Amino acid sequence: MFNIGDYGLRHLFDGYATLIRLHFENGRLIAGHSQIQSEAYRAAKSHGRLCYREFSEVPKTANFLAYIGELASLVSGESLTDNANTGVIKLGDGRVVCMTETTKGSIQVDPNTLKTIGKFEYTDNLGGLIHSAHPIVTDEEFLTLLPDLVYPGYRVVRMVAGSNKRELIGRVDCRGGPAPGWVHSFPVTQNYILVPEMPLRYCVQNLLKAEPTPLFKFEWHPESKGFMHVMCKRSGKVVASVEVPLYVTFHFVNAYEEHDEEGRVTAIIADCCEHNADASILQRLTLQNLRSFSGKDVLPDARVGRFTIPLDGSPMGKLEAALDPDQHGRGMDMCSFNPAYLGKKYRYLYASGAKRPCNFPNTITKIDLEIKTAKNWHDEGGVPSEPFFVARPGATAEDDGVVISMVSDKEGGGYAILFDGPTFEEIARARFPYGLPYGLHGCWVPKN
Ligand SMILES: [Fe+2]
Repeated sequence: MFNIGDYGLRHLFDGYATLIRLHFENGRLIAGHSQIQSEAYRAAKSHGRLCYREFSEVPKTANFLAYIGELASLVSGESLTDNANTGVIKLGDGRVVCMTETTKGSIQVDPNTLKTIGKFEYTDNLGGLIHSAHPIVTDEEFLTLLPDLVYPGYRVVRMVAGSNKRELIGRVDCRGGPAPGWVHSFPVTQNYILVPEMPLRYCVQNLLKAEPTPLFKFEWHPESKGFMHVMCKRSGKVVASVEVPLYVTFHFVNAYEEHDEEGRVTAIIADCCEHNADASILQRLTLQNLRSFSGKDVLPDARVGRFTIPLDGSPMGKLEAALDPDQHGRGMDMCSFNPAYLGKKYRYLYASGAKRPCNFPNTITKIDLEIKTAKNWHDEGGVPSEPFFVARPGATAEDDGVVISMVSDKEGGGYAILFDGPTFEEIARARFPYGLPYGLHGCWVPKN
């Protein structure tokens, strides 16, 4: 929801979270939507204005004294939003939680009724105002990173299924500064947790500023360089920390280990949607830009960035395109893959690519990382949300399943669309009775 009364929010990441449910049964689609009842949303609704700090905006304070009071509450985290508008996860114990980058913005919902159940409380004493918006979630555990803004670094934590208590696995100290790099997401392999340190870093001053700065809560520090750190999941020890070329990514796709003939791990491969080390993508996502497409091609280029991280003590890692970015129109974000391949060598990824000219990713693409090709789907004027892969029960082939997305069409309407995994041909489409705005991340919740 991008409007409160007659006030319009400014950035794609500011909207108040709407949860959408698609339910497939007997060849029919039943859908519904509901606003997540965060404190930030309820306060904005009842006061007719912003009351908490959203991604790019801060509430207007009546006077300077009120601002000073707000600074004090920012330190305690009180004024930060709990607007859980980034993604939905299903924990190993079945609870479904909506997430954002603030820790307080973890909100449990009922996936059947879409009702807000309440705050998901972390019952440990690890604190931390912010965390990665994309934890790694399996049936057994939930892993996430807590950036440390005071002593630049990251705490890596685990919460076992059924628990609300996070436990510290280990800590990574940043090699650059002045603050930790933004960690919207991170990848894991079977034995390691990868901690990215991007030169796009959190900026404590920007967090405190009353007006948005060009990169919002972040700053671009190319002089501070980019790094990838590798932590052993079992011991919490950092086993490698390499410098890599400068990079900008929101979303890591997956990672896996490479072995020598004796079975020793020699390197780690990690893939991400990489914006050619250009942070201007953040500015491109203001609503004003997104709503004013003039026919000119203004979407910055992106690629599948593939990191190779050596584990033999070499100081440098590599970053290259995993395939020719022209294969997917040099647009690349909102990625998914078969979750059974988490941390393992995988072949296929699904994402939003580009058919240019455009101002936003406007295709759905299936990428074959082995033969380095993409198959692209496009509907003129339509904007697809994240495509995600759902395996066929009993599937053995990696791409045996369906890919689900939602599309906002040219006329303002919308539909759900399903693709056959192996052929990537459209197999079903269901129109919504009314249009729904572009959405960020989804998840599949099986019936049982
Ligand atoms: Fe995301």
